[in-house]
Amino acid sequence: MKKPVFGSGWKMFLTDKEAMNYAQRLKENIPGEQDAELFVLPSFTAVERVTAILAGTDINVGVQNMCWEEKGAFTGEVSVLSLKEMAVKYVEIGHSERRTLFGETDRTVNLKIGKAMEHGLVPIFCMGEELQEKEKNLAKELLSIEIKNALHGIPYADAKKIIYAYEPVWAIGMEDSAQPDYAQEILGFIRQLLAQIYGRSEGTEFTVVYGGSVSLKNVEKLISQPDIDGVFVGRASLSIESYMEMLDIIKDSWSKKVKKQRGDDEN
Ligand code: PGA
Repeated sequence: MKKPVFGSGWKMFLTDKEAMNYAQRLKENIPGEQDAELFVLPSFTAVERVTAILAGTDINVGVQNMCWEEKGAFTGEVSVLSLKEMAVKYVEIGHSERRTLFGETDRTVNLKIGKAMEHGLVPIFCMGEELQEKEKNLAKELLSIEIKNALHGIPYADAKKIIYAYEPVWAIGMEDSAQPDYAQEILGFIRQLLAQIYGRSEGTEFTVVYGGSVSLKNVEKLISQPDIDGVFVGRASLSIESYMEMLDIIKDSWSKKVKKQRGDDEN
């Protein structure tokens, strides 16, 4: 059975020392098995030490980027081979900050997804429309192009392992998230599109999550939407109190949703 996803992207908010302190607090507060798929994404320099601290917990560690090639003249890049040596499990690919600030394109996103999958890493594939695209009612068209480009040549067996993170650019780093019904509409669309691309009927096997100003005040409503399998959180996951509270809300809201869906199925 599916568990809700709770991903925490640390961006460049924490120094290595801060990241290690935070990981230590997570370990103390979240021991043992969890009814949620948890991952944190520290900076590269902190990954190995954060992984060591979180060993034995149910919190997995990932990175925020990687190169599409394994070796060669790629100054400043990080190879998937090094990530494997560090036992990294997840890799974030195509975040809007990588796209707008560092020149990530649909083409490199596609190459990176392929390379990550070849080596058994789970890509967290981020996508989302800009405000002007939303205002012109072009979000779905834009997302179709992003998704089809990103998945070009990726077989179904791999595609169903990816975490699809819908992160509208206009909602990242803001006061509030997208409206939950809007997020639901778009994530439902993404699920259907994935099903259509791979010739499936419903697409329930795909994991689709929402990101962009998720906070304690909106997370419950977001998780309770039928097509939202989890959340990907930046700032609001960077304090231990907020993280713990959010995790409780996610688990609670998820179990209510599952019960409701079961009830609906029986009727
Ligand atoms: P935010 O970041 O939660 O701070 O808006 C989300 C993200 O960029 O994934």
